[in-house]
Amino acid sequence: MEIAKTIELTKKFVAAARKRDKTIGLVPTMGALHIGHISLIRAARRQTDYVVVSIFVNPTQFGPAEDFDKYPRPFDEDLQICREQGVDLVFAPDAKEMYPTKNITWVNVEKLTETLCGRTRPGHFRGVTTVCAKLFNIVRPDVAFFGQKDAQQAVVIKRMVTDLNMPLKIQVCPTVREEDGLAVSSRNKYLSESERKDASLLYKSLQKAKQLIGTGVTNPEQIIAQMRKILAQSTLLETEYIEIVEPETLEPLNPVKGPALIALAVRCGSVRLIDNILVDATSD
Ligand code: PAJ
Repeated sequence: MEIAKTIELTKKFVAAARKRDKTIGLVPTMGALHIGHISLIRAARRQTDYVVVSIFVNPTQFGPAEDFDKYPRPFDEDLQICREQGVDLVFAPDAKEMYPTKNITWVNVEKLTETLCGRTRPGHFRGVTTVCAKLFNIVRPDVAFFGQKDAQQAVVIKRMVTDLNMPLKIQVCPTVREEDGLAVSSRNKYLSESERKDASLLYKSLQKAKQLIGTGVTNPEQIIAQMRKILAQSTLLETEYIEIVEPETLEPLNPVKGPALIALAVRCGSVRLIDNILVDATSD
């Protein structure tokens, strides 16, 4: 496995792989790799010949009050995981390499970034799209792999690629969960024992919504009220939003019919958890 900290070296390794007629897969990450990331690496391994994992805690997607400094950076463990998973190249630049001058050029996807997490994290998606555009330009992958766990991020990236005619495919992979349903996340380790236990209510509430939709309930308020009731079983959880939206446009669905994305963000102590499921509310 090659490790490149510079853009120049990364381009050199990728160009050599291309010359050998290899297709290139990119898994963009912020490190602190876990089984969610590993599932993306495995998908990349299956679908492309030369797998690049980028590890970069991107400062432009963190708000001033967010956990950029505190974000875990277990670099050696991450490299070990990449080796075990047969990754070909790790691109691990520092902030100076990615942003040598103060960034004044941004990629901004409108509308899709103004809803759900965009309401409370201004500038977050602009940072994500900008860094992903840079990573796509540096690595020039045939396919880039993203997790359904961050559903809005995946929708926004797909739209950026479509709108700007970027020459790659975006592959979205299923959310990997713990046994009790909690979506795996680098931030779960900050949960106390009791918070960790109650965090399973997020998935329970999503399952409840799926069940209600399955029995023909189409009123989003009714579904959301039932979800809130489940989350209210814990005093440690504070709901930021629960929304039922169309999966591509992210516009609220009322009534709930056809494909639907049920998404929520919940504060659990100092940790902000997000989760979602896709359901098909087609009744026949
Ligand atoms: P990060 O949070 O490290 O996540 C990297 C990728 O792993 C994302 O596509 C995310 O959706 C996916 N992922 C995380 N947890 C997952 C899980 N439980 N199951 C499946 N996939 C999961 O997302 C980012 O980094 C950044 O915003 C990035 C795209 C790298 C841009 O900086």
